[in-house]
Amino acid sequence: MAFNLCFFNKGSLIFKPPKKSIWWLRMVVLMFSIVCGVYICYVSLRQISAPSSGRLSRVELARPCKNPRIEPSEKPFLHYPKPKTFSRAECECNPVRYFAILSMQRSGSGWFETLLNSHINISSNGEIFSVKPRRANASTIVETLDKLYNLDFLTSASRNECTAAVGLKWMLNQGVMLHHEEILEYFMSRGVSIIFVLRRNLLRRMISDLANSYDTNAKLLNGTHKSHVHSLEEAEILAGYKPTINAAMLIANLRQVEEMVTKALEYFNSTRHIVLYYEDIIKNQTKLIDAQDFLRVPRMELVSHHVKIHRGSLSSLVENWVDVEKALAGTSYESFLQEDYKM
Ligand SMILES: *[C@@H]1O[C@H](CO)[C@@H](O)[C@H](O)[C@H]1NC(C)=O
Ligand SMILES: *[C@@H]1O[C@H](CO)[C@@H](O)[C@H](O)[C@H]1NC(C)=O
Ligand SMILES: *[C@@H]1O[C@H](CO)[C@@H](O)[C@H](O)[C@H]1NC(C)=O
Ligand SMILES: *[C@@H]1O[C@H](CO)[C@@H](O)[C@H](O)[C@H]1NC(C)=O
Ligand SMILES: *[C@@H]1O[C@H](CO)[C@@H](O)[C@H](O)[C@H]1NC(C)=O
Repeated sequence: MAFNLCFFNKGSLIFKPPKKSIWWLRMVVLMFSIVCGVYICYVSLRQISAPSSGRLSRVELARPCKNPRIEPSEKPFLHYPKPKTFSRAECECNPVRYFAILSMQRSGSGWFETLLNSHINISSNGEIFSVKPRRANASTIVETLDKLYNLDFLTSASRNECTAAVGLKWMLNQGVMLHHEEILEYFMSRGVSIIFVLRRNLLRRMISDLANSYDTNAKLLNGTHKSHVHSLEEAEILAGYKPTINAAMLIANLRQVEEMVTKALEYFNSTRHIVLYYEDIIKNQTKLIDAQDFLRVPRMELVSHHVKIHRGSLSSLVENWVDVEKALAGTSYESFLQEDYKM
């Protein structure tokens, strides 16, 4: 290569142009250098004489944040948002990770989210897509996510300049399944990680769902509806209602939920994700360490003030237990009848 270049230079570039044009060329270059020099002097003088603090900090802001210890495979997941609503101050150069908790109603994701939010560096903003206009179409979804991940979405979730993981809780029936293609594209291109929070025992989920729907109208707690409670007393009142399950539709309903979960796992299989089951988190608190490691935040003790509503044995939670037993006996859902954890 070097040889070729030399040869090329010698062969083609050494020729003698007419003298006049050399003179003109020199003049042009000289004039150009003078103009450039004067301009550079003028600009730097202006910068020096301007109030230095403002300008210098803006120069510093423009410098990209560098973190040499980051593995190349992690890079797509690191972000340095510049929120419009507040300053990230001393944590400006701490990378922020984006996540989404994908779940279904009554699967323990509310409890799980309060646990995450007890971490100083995590900000999970709840079901922001329960508001219908935000999930009207793919563009409103993208707009909402952009705002959230830029740390400009104001919710009650704690958020501070040192937030290192920002996300939301998103129910599968809140536009996730409907717009899965666009959402997948968004997650892949922006490096959003998914935490699936699912429930193994779909019968228990159904009981909780029925009771919660009932309470939407009945408002058992002195006339207010609550999906989550913070005291044993409140939990006992809510668990006092025993739903009657439509035994004829039971299998079809369970299958429908199961299929939705399977599909969601397929749709988003190519993303960076982790699957956590509610039952496993209850039984094994190291699952919470897995979640923190997944979000790459420092490990901390996580706490929640949620109190579980339905605590007793399954048979005591349903009005027509005998029908339920009959409907599930001998099916692939029979195991749901078993006691799967003790409180
Ligand atoms: C999406 O919904 C918003 C709000 O309903 C609407 O203004 C906008 O035109 C819609 N965009 C598309 C592409 O349908
Ligand atoms: C977590 O928050 C603390 C306190 O605000 C901060 O000092 C620390 O740098 C943050 N950690 C990460 C990983 O951003
Ligand atoms: C409901 O009201 C009663 C009496 O006013 C009070 O003692 C009780 O604590 C209230 N319960 C809840 C769950 O707010
Ligand atoms: C996801 O992909 C992996 C490997 O590509 C495969 O083994 C796994 O079965 C897939 N899971 C689902 C739910 O599609
Ligand atoms: C608890 O979870 C961890 C990590 O997910 C696993 O390695 C461990 O075997 C689990 N322990 C029990 C008792 O299931």
